[in-house]
Amino acid sequence: MSTQTKITALIGFGTVGQGFYHYLTANNEDKKLATVVIKNASKSRIPDTLNFTTDVSEVYQNKEINTVVELISDDKEAFNIVKKALQQGKSVVSANKKMIAHHLEELVELEKQFGGKFLYEGAVAGSIPIIKIINEHYAFDEITEIRGILNGTSNYILTQLFDKEIGYDEALQQAQEAGFAEAEPSADVEGYDALYKSLILTAHAFGKFILPEKALHIGINNLKKSDLAFAKANHLKIKLVASIKNHNHKLTLSVLPTFVDENDNLFHVKNEYNAIEVVSNNIGSQFYKGKGAGKLPTGHVVFTDYKSLKEAKYTYRNIASGKRIKYEPNQNIWVYSDKITLLEKYLEEVVLINGSQGYGRLKIAYLIKAKELINIHHVSIIALSLADFADLRRNYLRKSAKSARK
Ligand code: HSE
Repeated sequence: MSTQTKITALIGFGTVGQGFYHYLTANNEDKKLATVVIKNASKSRIPDTLNFTTDVSEVYQNKEINTVVELISDDKEAFNIVKKALQQGKSVVSANKKMIAHHLEELVELEKQFGGKFLYEGAVAGSIPIIKIINEHYAFDEITEIRGILNGTSNYILTQLFDKEIGYDEALQQAQEAGFAEAEPSADVEGYDALYKSLILTAHAFGKFILPEKALHIGINNLKKSDLAFAKANHLKIKLVASIKNHNHKLTLSVLPTFVDENDNLFHVKNEYNAIEVVSNNIGSQFYKGKGAGKLPTGHVVFTDYKSLKEAKYTYRNIASGKRIKYEPNQNIWVYSDKITLLEKYLEEVVLINGSQGYGRLKIAYLIKAKELINIHHVSIIALSLADFADLRRNYLRKSAKSARK
């Protein structure tokens, strides 16, 4: 038995918890592990020699523990744990994007007040160290746009639907079996997960804490076979794209299924891979791609956070410099829908293709308002760039003229 002080508590021993433990043992750090808190004591665990407990209060009572690695899926429970640990001055590593997106501002305050560190690279984009990149690589440049694929499960499903033509349910089941999907996969396919990650990136890149309730997220769950066929016929793919833009200190944000063409880097991102394009004033556009989920890819960034607790300190830009950016959901976007006419009262402009199918231009804020209507009627919504819209419209007009001539 080692005489080294056991200073670390691991809370949660699921996919990412086991990934983190893999790196602990591979780097001889497991001797520091005081306890592993689990929910279900009757489940068999490998290795079964660890000090497992179901009582999280042991972590607070043990004053020797100065580091908590929180990797559970329940966001409310996770918040209680992280809050209490930070209030005790302990340092915390977490990967709970839902919890962080809802409470980041408060947790950053606790970090300042009690002196523990709070790091969470594993919460966004799996293996891509995007928070570090934003904080460090872009420290002396101004980011104007972040755009990307942030949910591995949705991208996995879309890849199977487009490339392998297997069904939605089967693809989702495969993602669950592979351990990418959330315990409640609606968080993935309804766009919540990508939204939480976008909000965390927004805090780092733009210094703005926006609550999930205030932002637009539409997932892939209402997409129909006919939408896929439409995309294919026009040489497009559909990706779940998160987009955050700062234009003249006005910030717009959305998570939407989006048509992408083959000139777009996101077109080529497959399976559980995530990808992020960062655009900044001086560097221009840079593209980062990597596995967005999974035991070892995510476990790796959690372990990297754990190892860098002493020296790392997150920054939230613009807050520090006092430069305020206004969140502005009034921007207009073009969307395609199988039932665009249902959104009639929100539309500023509409182009019908066939029956209720067509394109509409509307404000992001109106799409947030229309969420319930969209879900009740399973309305597919797919965003498109102005260029894609122009191309699609041109193709459509050409086809209509041809059939009129026949
Ligand atoms: N369910 C998440 C995803 C896991 O599919 O991206 C990684 O955050």
